[in-house]
Amino acid sequence: MRSMLFVPGNRPDLVVKALASGVDALIFDLEDSVPEASKGAARDNLAGIEALPVPLFVRVNGADTGHLWEDVTAAGSRGVAGVVLPKAEDPATIQRIDGALTALEIAGGGERGSTAIVPLVESASGVLATYDLCRASLRVRTILFGSGEEGDLVADLGCEWSPEGTGLLTARASVLMAARAAGVEEPMEAVFMDFRNLDGLRTECLLARRLGYVGKVAIHPQQVAVINEVFTPSPEVVAKSRRIVDEFEKAVAQGSASIAVDGRMVDYAVARVSRAVLARAHAATASRPATSNESEA
Ligand code: COA
Ligand code: MG
Repeated sequence: MRSMLFVPGNRPDLVVKALASGVDALIFDLEDSVPEASKGAARDNLAGIEALPVPLFVRVNGADTGHLWEDVTAAGSRGVAGVVLPKAEDPATIQRIDGALTALEIAGGGERGSTAIVPLVESASGVLATYDLCRASLRVRTILFGSGEEGDLVADLGCEWSPEGTGLLTARASVLMAARAAGVEEPMEAVFMDFRNLDGLRTECLLARRLGYVGKVAIHPQQVAVINEVFTPSPEVVAKSRRIVDEFEKAVAQGSASIAVDGRMVDYAVARVSRAVLARAHAATASRPATSNESEA
């Protein structure tokens, strides 16, 4: 996944519009975009969502809300790609959700372990606990860094959000490092609030990509094309990576593991980076058909 798009759980009518954006996955939100009085109704809406062409995730309410287990039950009973856990701080909560999902998968005939758990790290203690959160369950294959301006993490750190990301830099890099060390495949970033500011979104996506993140969550359909573009390797980079891998494989077959391609040294490490680029490019085209949005981007 390069992109995920939030749909408020009390607006199931937006699901179809969300799909038209070309996004890689949807997050049906039961947490902060849903007023307290509508929590039950939003949860009930989940059962009415038909099969979708992209993975459907559900953001449940946090451990301290009194809604978590009903939300997890609704998500697991419907069968979803994964559960996004906001304000993730305690590995024990992830282990309990893991157990509940296993029971629901068995009851519903789903594949055991198939439902992902996606911790959303958005507090100082969550940042410090990221490695343990990622290791708490094999279901944790994706994590979200709570990057939002005026979001929970900015408030908790007491830092200032700015377009170049200085205030969040240590947290952003720490979460990436911990997630990678724990073997998480998809470290992604949460939302960019100023949804009409696509240049600002692009700047933040580039910063995230340079640090090692592979995607970002959108709140508005317009954001999706920018996110997909930044997190898809460009044709030039793909062509160069293909050349490097081809030349290197030829060289290895002929007994050499250190060659020059386009005036630069290529060895096993360089070939590994190039293979990772090709894998990302392949995943981006394989995930679903390209949309008009993307071909314009
Ligand atoms: N998913 C699907 N469709 C969406 C959408 C979303 N997240 N956000 C906006 N749209 C639709 C609108 O309904 C509108 O459709 P229309 O042209 O048929 O009327 C179109 O996209 C353009 O929307 P726009 O008028 O630019 O924005 P808005 O004022 O309607 O909505 C928000 C702005 C922020 C309220 C809306 O994007 C939203 O609710 N986003 C998700 C919020 C959320 O889930 N937050 C939780 C995580 S932080
Ligand atoms: Mg939040």
